[in-house]
Amino acid sequence: MTARIDMLRLHDLEPTIEEFREAVVAGLGSTPKTLPCKFFYDAEGSRLFDAICELPEYYPTRTELAILRRHAGEMADEIGPDAGIVEFGSGAGIKIRLLLAALERPAAYVPVDISREHMLAAAQDLAAEFPGLRIAPVCADYTRTFALPALPGAHPQSMVGFFPGSTIGNFAPSEAVAFLARARRLLGRNALMLVGSDLPKDRETLEAAYDDAAGVTAAFNRNLLVRMQRELAAELDIDGFRHEARWCPVQRRVEMHLVSLSRQEIRVAGHRFAFERGETIHTENSHKYSLPEFRALAGRSGWLPARCWTDPEERFAVHLLRSG
Ligand code: TRP
Repeated sequence: MTARIDMLRLHDLEPTIEEFREAVVAGLGSTPKTLPCKFFYDAEGSRLFDAICELPEYYPTRTELAILRRHAGEMADEIGPDAGIVEFGSGAGIKIRLLLAALERPAAYVPVDISREHMLAAAQDLAAEFPGLRIAPVCADYTRTFALPALPGAHPQSMVGFFPGSTIGNFAPSEAVAFLARARRLLGRNALMLVGSDLPKDRETLEAAYDDAAGVTAAFNRNLLVRMQRELAAELDIDGFRHEARWCPVQRRVEMHLVSLSRQEIRVAGHRFAFERGETIHTENSHKYSLPEFRALAGRSGWLPARCWTDPEERFAVHLLRSG
């Protein structure tokens, strides 16, 4: 590592292989079968996810970046100087650059991500670009309670949660409310939160965004099976499952499934899980909230919806919330 090591204090809570095994056994043992989405993001999963964000069909990343490029100045005005930014699920770090570059003297940046190496590499790059910025990465599952690391030498005037990418839509609505409420407690008084949220639209656009022609999203979904084979020595036929994305207009969400192409079983950790032909493992949801629906959701978590920016076609929204 470089001399910036003092700027990069890692707080390590990366999930263990035991947690993965327990989650697999619990998920495949339930009806309908599920697997928790946080296990998508090993090194290969994170790489595939970055590739998804570049796909022609996957409009959310591009649209949100355009909103940030266009309105980062207004966001920075709302936030004010010397802010401490906590990013939930920091990934490749492209969006945070736009925000940090617009902010006046950002005091500290706390990326929180489950994919340790990926996050550290991104944090190293960022440290080189923003020399005065205190960076304190936390490797954690942000869907659980965690503590903010100490920020020696930094005196943030306000804390700002940054949660782009419409990851809020990957929670069930009640979990989204619980997450936002927890973030509010974590960030303390005088806090703000910027949340990216995808908007409902036609089925064709939505399903294509989650089932691209090049098959990158399919590979991303099936990476869960690859991980089970490699890390848990699971006996399974990866080609015996196909990726499916379905828009469910009643629940207003895109569901991601791995569909069993035949009657078969998966053997893992001393268990056998039988699949009927057509039976699925439900791996992910992506809820789409209209602007008033999102404001109501934020309100239920105790935040006050303050402002919101969208693109001209109203495909995607970035909401600013205030703690009160
Ligand atoms: N937050 C992203 C979304 O809901 C995550 C995502 C994009 C995703 N493509 C995916 C999750 C495919 C699982 C499978 O848009």
